[in-house]
Amino acid sequence: MSTIFTNISKIHGLMSPERNKFNLKFGQEMSQVDCLSDAYIKVENGRILEIGSGMPELKDEDQVIDLQGKEVLPGFVDSHTHLVFAAPRHEEFSLRIKGASYEEIAEAGGGILNSAAKLRLMSEDELFDHASERVKSMILHGTTCIEIKSGYGLSVDSELKMLRVIKRLKEAFPILIKATFLGAHAFPKEFKQQPDAYIDLILRDMLPAVIADDLADHIDVFCDRGFFTQEQTERILTQSQKYGLPSKIHGNELGLTGGVQVAVKMESWSVDHLEHCSEVEFELMRDSFSHEYGGTMPVALPGTSYFLGIPYAPTRKMIDFGLPVVLATDFNPGSSPIHSLQNIASLACTQMKMLPEEVFHAITCNAAHSLRLGNEVGSLGIGMRADFLVMKTRDSIKTIPYFMGQNQVERVFIEGQEFFA
Ligand code: NIG
Ligand code: FE
Repeated sequence: MSTIFTNISKIHGLMSPERNKFNLKFGQEMSQVDCLSDAYIKVENGRILEIGSGMPELKDEDQVIDLQGKEVLPGFVDSHTHLVFAAPRHEEFSLRIKGASYEEIAEAGGGILNSAAKLRLMSEDELFDHASERVKSMILHGTTCIEIKSGYGLSVDSELKMLRVIKRLKEAFPILIKATFLGAHAFPKEFKQQPDAYIDLILRDMLPAVIADDLADHIDVFCDRGFFTQEQTERILTQSQKYGLPSKIHGNELGLTGGVQVAVKMESWSVDHLEHCSEVEFELMRDSFSHEYGGTMPVALPGTSYFLGIPYAPTRKMIDFGLPVVLATDFNPGSSPIHSLQNIASLACTQMKMLPEEVFHAITCNAAHSLRLGNEVGSLGIGMRADFLVMKTRDSIKTIPYFMGQNQVERVFIEGQEFFA
């Protein structure tokens, strides 16, 4: 039996017939949205079987859902979150308002270590319940594919606990969820004086356990000033490559600290943050797309810049340079308590001078490629997952960043089934 969604005024984000092999948009292609007006979508077994104009031929057994002249978009892809956490960090928010910096708070034992201390005390069930509520709300705001990192564990037991929570989220929700092992998020206090011993722990104890229980789809390292050096990052990724685990790294948030260099060298699928990024890094990322592994995607996280008051990643320059930019929420209790990609879209337009159309591709097909899911999600075409949004507004690509803070998603369909919280 097929389900046919009819009476769609416009589908935005169609899989373009001229698409490149990665199904993503580079540079100025990002401002060209592929659309179809007066359309229908036919879905079978959760996948798109047909997309066309007007009305399709109907069989008696087909189920028809009239979308009443609304617009349809592919579900958004959030390629960078830390949504499993025990508690908000609003005390630090107040400290920062009074003038303390993110780095000063971290050096004083707050920040990531604060979240790790709280997470250790919380049961797996309770963590799962909190995280489930966050995932539900994100879906209702249009996000239908989410990457979730560990990294508030920082011990073997707690990292595994976090990753098991992510595994349960994968099972509990119909959306695509991908897990990233981020044991190298910060040095626990007891390892501050002997950082390499913590890396030994990651490589000797954490990583093999993560692999044995098949708990991660990728690995991540916070490669930045005061956190993991370029050399330490390379050491960790050299080992994880032996297990065939792809990487996505945090880099260049706090300075020009070599994150892009190590990401490209280690063939990371993305390098995320890039608040500090020069043309040298642009060139490295651009050249990475001629390599077989599919390139290192630049992922900007404007929620973090907004919330911490640090520079925004130079995505305008990146796009003008020809790079395929991605935007993500970085949803976490310390630097970006923002879970809606619609709000990120607004920040990207007003603060980074990205066009609404560019933003749209940065949270759909480009984000999908940064997870190597560009043939599953992020655009609407035959064979893709039927994960799509029915919008409240007309010209929805433009109204998403315009109506800051208003949820413009009316209905969410995942594998062709409507999602209800
Ligand atoms: O991406 N920069 C590193 N990690 C997170 C912040 C985590 C935290 O402060 O809890 C980020 O911004
Ligand atoms: Fe992050």
